[in-house]
Parts: sequence; C-alpha cells; structure tokens
Amino acid sequence: MSPTAMTRATAPKILHTHHTAFRCFDAEETRKFWEDVMGLELAAALSFDHISGTNTKLDYMHLFFKLGDGNFIAFFDVPDHMRPDLFKRRSGLYHHIAMEVATEAELEAFEKRWRDAGLEVTSDLDHSFVRSIYTYDPNGVQTEILWKSPQYKAILTKATAAVPKDMKDWTEKTRAKKDAYRKQHPAHA
Ligand SMILES: [Fe+2]
Repeated sequence: MSPTAMTRATAPKILHTHHTAFRCFDAEETRKFWEDVMGLELAAALSFDHISGTNTKLDYMHLFFKLGDGNFIAFFDVPDHMRPDLFKRRSGLYHHIAMEVATEAELEAFEKRWRDAGLEVTSDLDHSFVRSIYTYDPNGVQTEILWKSPQYKAILTKATAAVPKDMKDWTEKTRAKKDAYRKQHPAHA
C-alpha cells in the first residue's frame, strides 16, 4: 500500500514508547551515569550468548533503565562488535534523548548534579516553549533535560495549526537539494 492510501485516523493508537535503545561501550560505566547521576533504576540487565531467534553466537547484554512513567532507556553492550566511531559524541541533530522534569527547580538541580559529576553542560538553551540543558552520557548519547515553560501549550497549539503551511514551505524550499542528492546517490532514490 502506498503511504498516501493510509491515514492517521485509521491507525491503531500507539500508547507511548516502551524503550529507546542505544549501543553502550561498557555496561557498568553506563549504569553509573544512568543510575547514579540520572537517578533511573536499572530494572533489568539481561545477558545473552546468541542473537534471539537465530543460532548466531554473540555475547551481549541488554540494559533497561526505568523512567518515571514506566518507559525505558535501553542499551546493548556488545564487546565483540566495537567500532571506534560508535561512541563518538555527535551533534544532537543526529539523535538525542530528551527527558522531562516537572519543575524548573528540578531542571536546575540536574544542571548542578551534572556539573558536580564533572560533566560538560550546555545550559539555558531557551526554545521559548521549553527550557533545556544538555550533556553527554558515557556512550556519546546527547542527553537533554527539559522543563515545559508556562507558554508551552500556547506555542505548541500555534505550531500545530501551522503544520500544513510549514511542511509545504519546507518541502518546496528543499526539494531541489533532495532531488540533486538522489541523482548523485541512486541508492536513496
Ligand atoms: Fe530536544
């Protein structure tokens, strides 16, 4: 079925994320950050000796850190599958994980906690509708804590209403670049 034949209205409702998974360099080092600094409970540390559903032998550990709403941030520690670029800190434009706290004071408490732990912190990036602070976990995963400002709802409501126009404008503005890229890289066409 082509995507245009589907609509949002007929899709089964997705409740929430269950887990978001990343690679980690070392399970214990990762636990120290996500449990001791971030305060998330390590709810499971499952080790395996083969890839699920296959006979392929591989030693790996799957870690699940529990967030306040029952969702998880997960990691795979795979000692035999290392690449130097895997754990490089990347710009948040590639990927990052953002977690919400209920109060501005809690956001500031995290900022202090990160600094006390010797972490580099980018703070006070005011996006108007949220206030955010950023650091990196030991695996190069950009980690964001945000607090929704009092204007959050109003700003988001306005943005949602503007989606059709914003999407059309962006697609028109960038189409030529995308077409040129696809011509040069037929695998993406
Ligand atoms: Fe973000």
